[in-house]
Amino acid sequence: MSDKPEKFIDENGLRLDGRRVNEIRPMKMEIGVLSRADGSCYLEWGKNKVLAAVYGPRELHPRRLQKADSALIRYRYNMAAFSVEDRIRPGPSRRSIEISKVSREAFEPVVLTHLYPGAVIDVFAEVLQADAGTRTAAINAASMALADAGIPMKGLVSACAVGKVDGQLVLDLNKPEDNYGNADIPMAMTADGEITLLQMDGDVTQEEFRQAVELCKEGCRQILEMQKETLKNKFTKLEEVEISDDEEDVDVSALVESTLESLEEDETSENDEDIEEEIETDDVEDAESGDEAESVEEQEDSFQDVDEDDIPEDNDEDVPEDDEETA
Ligand code: CDP
Repeated sequence: MSDKPEKFIDENGLRLDGRRVNEIRPMKMEIGVLSRADGSCYLEWGKNKVLAAVYGPRELHPRRLQKADSALIRYRYNMAAFSVEDRIRPGPSRRSIEISKVSREAFEPVVLTHLYPGAVIDVFAEVLQADAGTRTAAINAASMALADAGIPMKGLVSACAVGKVDGQLVLDLNKPEDNYGNADIPMAMTADGEITLLQMDGDVTQEEFRQAVELCKEGCRQILEMQKETLKNKFTKLEEVEISDDEEDVDVSALVESTLESLEEDETSENDEDIEEEIETDDVEDAESGDEAESVEEQEDSFQDVDEDDIPEDNDEDVPEDDEETA
């Protein structure tokens, strides 16, 4: 029995999940969620849940795979076995290999790979829960993870799909629209609207295709804003930490000053005591040895008087002690 809905868009222009045709599903993302990865992002988009992790740039092994003039990007899209209703067989499938390939190609024009010859940048996109549009969700998460890892890029990549249901173009397909719609066109693009991924399943006219690109640009623009906001939040937080550190510095320096002052006072009184102690000790020593205490100048003079020829050249250990030499 098919679960195909009779209508995807009601008379008020609302879709099955209450969205308008040009609205994307609610999205939230967080970066830096994995401590072992160089960059990471957890993204929820509708009921999709995706985790992306980036490792590198790091030296690529085996070396025969290295590119002499640039870094290699490896992208692995994977659906967790529990991510859909029917268990997914673990390991690569035709579908996941294809998605990994086109997603890697979506990043190759923006990542400045020429800066890291011989290196590899590994991108892992794990779909934890799937509900249509997982490849685009994974690309959005991967883009953030790359930025989080500090990988130099021309800009962020944002991705979204446009489809056709009830003869109308709709932005960001939900599961029934994806499964039973007339077309599914996932796209990824840069902030400038340069398309880095374009796939199409189904039929659209040339005019519809043109409109689909425009509609997708609008979706990607909204996603880009969220991506930028997420990155900005992270760096604003870092700045706040720095500011509060500065504030602590002010306190610390005041503390240091007052400590120094009190130390100076202590030192003055301690010095007095030391001097008294020294005088007493010197008196006792002089009295015992019968030697006259040399002034500091006298000691320095006698040190300078040492003839360099008297010092053996090669063996430092043979250098006589000052006392012996000057005695
Ligand atoms: O997820 P995306 O739209 O990028 O790829 P798709 O191949 O068009 O798959 C659409 C949806 O079908 C996925 O998001 C999953 O929810 C579902 N699916 C599934 O249930 N089992 C699979 N083996 C593959 C996909």
